[in-house]
Amino acid sequence: MKKLNIHGYGDDLTINNIRLGDLSPDEHEKIELNKGGQNYSPLENVVVSHVKDSSTLICRKPSNDGVSKYVEEELLDGLCCYSAVNQGQLNKDIVNAVIHHLDIEKIPTVPRSIRHKYMSGFLLAATAFTEMDRVVPKVAGVESWELTFKLCRRWGYEIKKIPTDKAIIVGATGNFHGRSMAATSMSDDLDSKNNFGPFLPGIELVPFNDFDALEKLFNEKSEYIAAYSVEPIQGEAGVIVPDNDYWPKVSKLCKEHNVLLAFDEVQTGFGRTGKNFAHQLYNVKPDIMGCGKAAGGGILPVSFVAGRDDVVGVLTPGSEGSTFGGYPLASIVGIYAIKTLIDGDLAKQAQIRGAQLLDGLNTIKNEFSDKIKIVRGKGLLTAFEMHNNKHLDGHVVSVKLLDQGIYAKETHHSTVRLAPALTITSNQIDILLSAVRNVIKEL
Ligand SMILES: Cc1ncc(COP(=O)(O)O)c(C=O)c1O
Repeated sequence: MKKLNIHGYGDDLTINNIRLGDLSPDEHEKIELNKGGQNYSPLENVVVSHVKDSSTLICRKPSNDGVSKYVEEELLDGLCCYSAVNQGQLNKDIVNAVIHHLDIEKIPTVPRSIRHKYMSGFLLAATAFTEMDRVVPKVAGVESWELTFKLCRRWGYEIKKIPTDKAIIVGATGNFHGRSMAATSMSDDLDSKNNFGPFLPGIELVPFNDFDALEKLFNEKSEYIAAYSVEPIQGEAGVIVPDNDYWPKVSKLCKEHNVLLAFDEVQTGFGRTGKNFAHQLYNVKPDIMGCGKAAGGGILPVSFVAGRDDVVGVLTPGSEGSTFGGYPLASIVGIYAIKTLIDGDLAKQAQIRGAQLLDGLNTIKNEFSDKIKIVRGKGLLTAFEMHNNKHLDGHVVSVKLLDQGIYAKETHHSTVRLAPALTITSNQIDILLSAVRNVIKEL
């Protein structure tokens, strides 16, 4: 290895004489293009630097004065890391808890093969918050879904008595559960699957929000079906909200056929949709669910599976594990992610600010009905979809919103998702709406 010299913090962080504060947006892009994997296409000409307030980022854009490498501008965060930052950027209570526990309480880093005292705290908080019997901590969102998948299969064999290796997990078309092989196997997005096969067997898809299709499949194969594993509202698909009676009917059907209802609440959980969990909007309760994103308060990746005693109870020592799942710092962050959500009544805030945002988007839709086809959402998980027309391009909208100081990103060609922090103010929602209106007007 050539000599590697690393020193400094923030802008002064210097790697082999390259100081981060000296890099232009173009130079950042070149480093990423030359040294990173090309699995994202981030917005061009903008690099986020730091946080100004709970919904405002400071970003760097190219400078045109020929002297400076960049100019700094405010960016209103309309996405909050795909709902990982529901509690707001650098939530003070979570940050204070982290600093206090690292600095004063001297928390250790230990694996699960020895008990640590913060695990009990996390399990008490997470079971109470989810109203579930048992919780198993993981790290990334996809891991919570992956573990849900495994638990459903094992429950299928050991409790439902499905013949060995015949278990079916049913998913929904348009699903997104992350990027593991199991999640990729369930996906019907061809870009995410290309040349990653062979895929996992034992997965069948039904159209989302189509009760009859699910009932037909259950009637044909329910003796082999362990679970219907699904997002209560599809986020990545463009905020697809099912009919009001869909989940109550599905929940009843699952009970009739002894099939688990397994919700992926990674994006919809933690207050995002106006309730602590989206299933509460529909008065149903899953048998098992995966949570992630805001479970880490926007500070650390924290995820977990929460479920009924007999479902999570099929785990045995050695059948699952994760070095960093629920390690002391993650447990602290997990507890405080829940505490801040409850103390700030953030699900209620999502209801109030979400109603303001949806009202405003619908007003814009009515004014420009030739451009916007539909507005969808629950709480602060919202999206608008434009008509299928080449010039009504979601990416162009994202770029134009950036020029107006707003960070939002398209999902698919013609849909733009808006999901700001649940701490966003009424004034900030008005700023967001006025930028959306300007951009749509110009298209
Ligand atoms: C519903 C859902 N499940 C799982 C995931 C995967 O989470 P992660 O990217 O943290 O693995 C996502 C991420 O967007 C998601 O929206």
